[in-house]
Amino acid sequence: MSDRIHTLSGYFHEYQKSVAQPEEFWARIADSFHWKKRWDKVLDWNFEEPDVKWFVNAKLNITENILERHLYTIGDRPAIIWEPNDPSEAGRTLTYRELHTEVCKFSNVLQEKGIKKGDRVIIYMPMIPEAAVAMLACARIGAVHSVVFAGFSSSSLADRIEDCKAKAVLTSDGNFRGSKKIAVKAVVDEALEKVTVDTVIVYQRTHQEVSMKSGRDFWWHELVEGVSEQHEAVETDSEDMLFILYTSGSTGKPKGVVHTVGGYMVYTKYSFENVFQYTPGDVYWCTADVGWITGHSYIVYGPLLAGATTLMFEGVPTFPDAGRFWSVVEKHKVNQFYTAPTAIRALQAHGTEPIEPYDLSSLKVLGSVGEPINEEAWNWYHTHVGKSRCPIVDTWWQTETGGILVSPIAGITPTKPAYATLPLPGIQLCIVDAEGNELKGNSVEGNLCIKFPWPSMIRTTYGDHERCKQTYFSTYKDMYFTGDGVKRDHDGYYRILGRVDDVINVSGHRMGTAEVENAINEHPLVVESAVVGYPHEVKGQGIYAYVICDMKNRTEENLTNEIKDTVSKIIGPIAKPDKIQIVSGLPKTRSGKIMRRILRKVAEGTVDNLGDTSTLLDPEVVQEIIEGRQ
Ligand code: WT7
Repeated sequence: MSDRIHTLSGYFHEYQKSVAQPEEFWARIADSFHWKKRWDKVLDWNFEEPDVKWFVNAKLNITENILERHLYTIGDRPAIIWEPNDPSEAGRTLTYRELHTEVCKFSNVLQEKGIKKGDRVIIYMPMIPEAAVAMLACARIGAVHSVVFAGFSSSSLADRIEDCKAKAVLTSDGNFRGSKKIAVKAVVDEALEKVTVDTVIVYQRTHQEVSMKSGRDFWWHELVEGVSEQHEAVETDSEDMLFILYTSGSTGKPKGVVHTVGGYMVYTKYSFENVFQYTPGDVYWCTADVGWITGHSYIVYGPLLAGATTLMFEGVPTFPDAGRFWSVVEKHKVNQFYTAPTAIRALQAHGTEPIEPYDLSSLKVLGSVGEPINEEAWNWYHTHVGKSRCPIVDTWWQTETGGILVSPIAGITPTKPAYATLPLPGIQLCIVDAEGNELKGNSVEGNLCIKFPWPSMIRTTYGDHERCKQTYFSTYKDMYFTGDGVKRDHDGYYRILGRVDDVINVSGHRMGTAEVENAINEHPLVVESAVVGYPHEVKGQGIYAYVICDMKNRTEENLTNEIKDTVSKIIGPIAKPDKIQIVSGLPKTRSGKIMRRILRKVAEGTVDNLGDTSTLLDPEVVQEIIEGRQ
């Protein structure tokens, strides 16, 4: 706990130290972990390649820092509290001791199936404790997990299995979500018609019927039966891969962001304890899914490394009713609650009535993540959930950053609605203009970059290092480029303004416009499409698609529904366009480039200021597009 920031001056002091002497700073933090062998050097880096190594040549196993480390001190403390989708079903609690046993058993199972250090394992599972057990068992044997959000389609799943050449898939029969029972294994089966893996392990959650291919598919409960509860953690290097997590960018294909063991471990624990000001005995709840980076860093790794009690929720905010979050807070006396602006706005739409029956006095800290939080949602969260006494931590970060980089320290950094406020220690932010000139001083606005490495940063994009270099380290020399626009106000506080590239943020989920376009173009009658984001009341941004197609004898309604289904099938329901406008042409420059600026303006409804359209090949099409706006 000595690494804990307690006061605002303490924060500034730590920040200064972290910039003046980064290696000494992180070595001190890293000293509190269990290493099998200490590092030879704290940091080796250059942003040109990029090549970043933290805790060079150190050896460790991250799960020893979660399990063995806590066994004899807090073995009986709940590690994971699991709240099922249906409130009438009994929940489960796993203490640190029980989690240790489960992870050891499943590590033995994986090794018996021939999975070794460095092998990739796909996890495609609902929000059940076994998803965390699966991740930790992979980490324990040195295998690399790649969790795929269980809402992704079979073809998205197949692409990821193929890209990382996975040896095994860990999954479940089905998934309970709200009033629905969703097939999960059947999606895996469909994916495995296109690609192959040696082993599939299926956890029985819904007891729905599934087909099992003999020699390949095995039931989780049968494999763990009678397996030894002893398991010696495999030694890994600090820079060995811990996991791959796929995320969308401005090009068509999602990329596998690679995180490594040592730095990720140090940073997630440090940021978790400080941002949320977690104290032993608290119950912490992050509502994300383990399929996203938030679930990795702040449901599983950060909290468990800190010996915290982390609540895992299987369901959705509105089932059985819009009071579910608050009933769970009351039931488990949740102290820190971390969710996304989209959930806040969705609940805000139900008014305050669903909150009133519940006792929320256990709450100490509220968190927000995934997209810019608008002032109205911030104020509603603060007043009605936090009863004006809980600080809000608006945490800015990315899949690539591994952990929270800009955020208030709960209760310590004075907050300002919609501001992520200040960088955490070790994070050297830099605002640049389009030419890459640093904008110094306050009251400036530009693109957000980071000029010095931090322990949990992306190391590479799996199988394609050049792509990592191009995407993040080539736009501006010697800097990591985040893809976000930002403002630093007169107080030096940071406000994230949103993406400046062709990425849209739908309900806190990243979607590449090219990726959605590729999916739309799969529909046989589609000739061409262009996708942009537009402001959406609940989702933050919605997906607006302009589509040129051969109508055959379809009605517009039929066709737009078919296109939505196509996208849903190819990527998953989260990528379904909210609006589709059938057009006869797209505004293109003479060189054939689509002028997205115009499409964005039309989608936003700000058509009176379209700027210069004189370079367009066919200016007429703009009028048609304005008139047909959805
Ligand atoms: C993008 C990263 C970080 C975990 C969840 C999303 C946006 C994230 C905030 C915030 C404004 C935010 C950014 C970022 N974003 N947090 N607090 N305020 N914008 O991870 O899918 O990798 O998306 O989400 O645009 O670049 P991700």
